[in-house]
Amino acid sequence: MKVGYDAATHVFRLDGADISYVLGVNEKGELQNLYWGKRLDAQDPFAAAKSPGGGSGFDPAVNLTPTEFVGWGAGLYAVPNLKVTFPDGNRDLVLHYLSHEIQGDTLRVTLKDIGRDVRVELLYEMNAETGVLARSAKIENHTKLPLTIEEAFAATWNLPSSNDYQLRYLTGRWAAEWKLQEEALHTGKVVLESRRGSTGDEVNPWFAIERGAQPDQDTGDVWFGALGWSGSWQINVEQNAANQVRVTGGFTPFDFAYLLKPEQSLETPKFYGGYSNSGIGGASRLLHRFELGSIVPGGMHRKLRPILYNSWEATGFDVNEAGQETLAEKAASIGVERFVMDDGWFGQRKDDHAGLGDWYVNQQKFPHGLKPLIDKVHSLGMDFGLWVEPEMVNPNSDLYKAHPDWTLNFPGRPRTEGRSQLMLNLARPDVRAYVYGFLDKLLTENDIAFLKWDYNRNWSEPGWSAVPIEQQKEVYVEYVRNLYSILAELRSKHPNVEIESCSGGGARVDLGIMRLTDEVWPSDNTDPFDRLRIQDGFSYAYAPGVMMAWVTDSPNWMNNRSTSLDYRFLSSMQGSLGIGANLSKWSAEDFSTAKKLVAQYKLLRPTIQDGALYRLISPEEGSEFSVTESLSTDGKQAAVFAFLHSSQLGDGDPRIFPRGLEPATKYSIHALVGSLDSRMPERASGEYWMHRGIDVSLRGDFQAMLFTLEREGAK
Ligand code: DGJ
Repeated sequence: MKVGYDAATHVFRLDGADISYVLGVNEKGELQNLYWGKRLDAQDPFAAAKSPGGGSGFDPAVNLTPTEFVGWGAGLYAVPNLKVTFPDGNRDLVLHYLSHEIQGDTLRVTLKDIGRDVRVELLYEMNAETGVLARSAKIENHTKLPLTIEEAFAATWNLPSSNDYQLRYLTGRWAAEWKLQEEALHTGKVVLESRRGSTGDEVNPWFAIERGAQPDQDTGDVWFGALGWSGSWQINVEQNAANQVRVTGGFTPFDFAYLLKPEQSLETPKFYGGYSNSGIGGASRLLHRFELGSIVPGGMHRKLRPILYNSWEATGFDVNEAGQETLAEKAASIGVERFVMDDGWFGQRKDDHAGLGDWYVNQQKFPHGLKPLIDKVHSLGMDFGLWVEPEMVNPNSDLYKAHPDWTLNFPGRPRTEGRSQLMLNLARPDVRAYVYGFLDKLLTENDIAFLKWDYNRNWSEPGWSAVPIEQQKEVYVEYVRNLYSILAELRSKHPNVEIESCSGGGARVDLGIMRLTDEVWPSDNTDPFDRLRIQDGFSYAYAPGVMMAWVTDSPNWMNNRSTSLDYRFLSSMQGSLGIGANLSKWSAEDFSTAKKLVAQYKLLRPTIQDGALYRLISPEEGSEFSVTESLSTDGKQAAVFAFLHSSQLGDGDPRIFPRGLEPATKYSIHALVGSLDSRMPERASGEYWMHRGIDVSLRGDFQAMLFTLEREGAK
């Protein structure tokens, strides 16, 4: 049994990897956190939990108790995990321990209100490999009458009292996602939230809290967490005046209501949490391992990401059989493994004003259907992928004309469009059936290996008039559940099909969608320099192994910046490599450069996609340089990417200090792109490379280099 329980003290203990998590039931029956942090000795003692008592008449005891899950009642002022209204008007809910169950790495603790039969089953699942804990709650109504849930948060993470915490989170907007924010915590509350109906790119549902005023990449205590939910969400980071810090996350209470009838239950999303004492770098490496090993489909047995070509930046909506076949031939010649046709192939889709919802092949563009193109792609040794945006409809479409009631809307009110499209209400069973039906048909009738699943707007007028008024706000939950169930059903019926989560870039990346998709698109911004910052931010929460990155044209469409093909490749090679350039414009030299770099990427792919990421020099805050290192899981190879933005005032290159090498083992160094300083030895100890450091030779603007360190004797 991996979960320990001491009946004498009523203390539970979960250990996983380098982490221990300890909780107990206090004398009042409240479930309270006792410890979350570095793994402790199995014999280390924990006394029974004890309520701290009230601070004064102004601070009832429940506010000072590090509760694991607390109802709104008994004078609680902190964010409650659960707030309900009973039909008699009572809104007081006080949850105490009722029972528990232990199975392997999983602990279930059931709480019950002190008077009414409302129960909450708390689930704790410890991941043995990383110590990341998954927590969620199932709220059950065993009373005779329906009740309304007004707030439902999955879990609360309690940190040790301290007034020396730094909070990090990720913010952004379209084409500028994944900006790392850092701020000191002090008394009050920081609310991270999406009210958009989906994950959103304004804030991502991830946080990290580091103890100490000067956060460091590889040392120090860091607690982190992420929500597995692709709908509206909220994470509250609260510090009370006694310097107690709680992080509570789940459905956002904004516009939320869920009617729980007798014997019904509501499950919250999972809220994952972890701890590292190797700084924020250690925290993200741990989270990456957890995601790749336990979240993405296939886990440890998942396939590495193939090198794909995508047509979007080359042909836009103007796709047709001959044009796509020409691109496919060119893509195959440089070693691309998957050819993806993006938007434009269906309905009357000439631009973004029409066609969404009409998922039949456009006859003018593909008179013989998709088969000739798919056959051609296969004959070139690649598999075939296709773009879809299943949750949307253009008012200018057959689908909308037939079913105007299928969209989210409030009857008689205007319907706000985004990119000339409306949202289908996936919570409706008929819409769910339509969306699953057309996707299943598409995958059954065509040999498709990959879907790029796009989602290009946020919600508005989220009405669901087909159900009783008191249930209409459940749309926020039921929509996402149906989205997940469609993805799950498609995956099980078409097990070889892989899926990318794209939302006009990175607006739907979270641990919920990642359970059902194989990769994500982090941003529509494909400028290779902007991407360094975007990819750096992304990597705090998500693994490079799922992060698609395309090499596109120069000058870039977004900012007209010109960069060399080497630079563009190296920027994209930090993640899962794709090509999105218009290959019809490439010179023979471009093709030979691309062929060489694609071949190199294939050799480095396991190291980059599966390995441990070290941020050696961050591109944040206008840094002239940016350097990352990917270290293979077996430690045999490190791939180092170094970028110079623009030389200023004749400053020299900074010395690069790789990390994670074995000090006493010899490594040889190999420049694959660009050059090392001529005085660098060809081989030296890990100690030498990590402490003496590596000098490179980068001069000019937008320069990039790639070198590897290979452990000797390793093959
Ligand atoms: C937004 C995506 O992020 C792009 O890559 C592209 O697929 C377009 N949508 C197509 O409309």
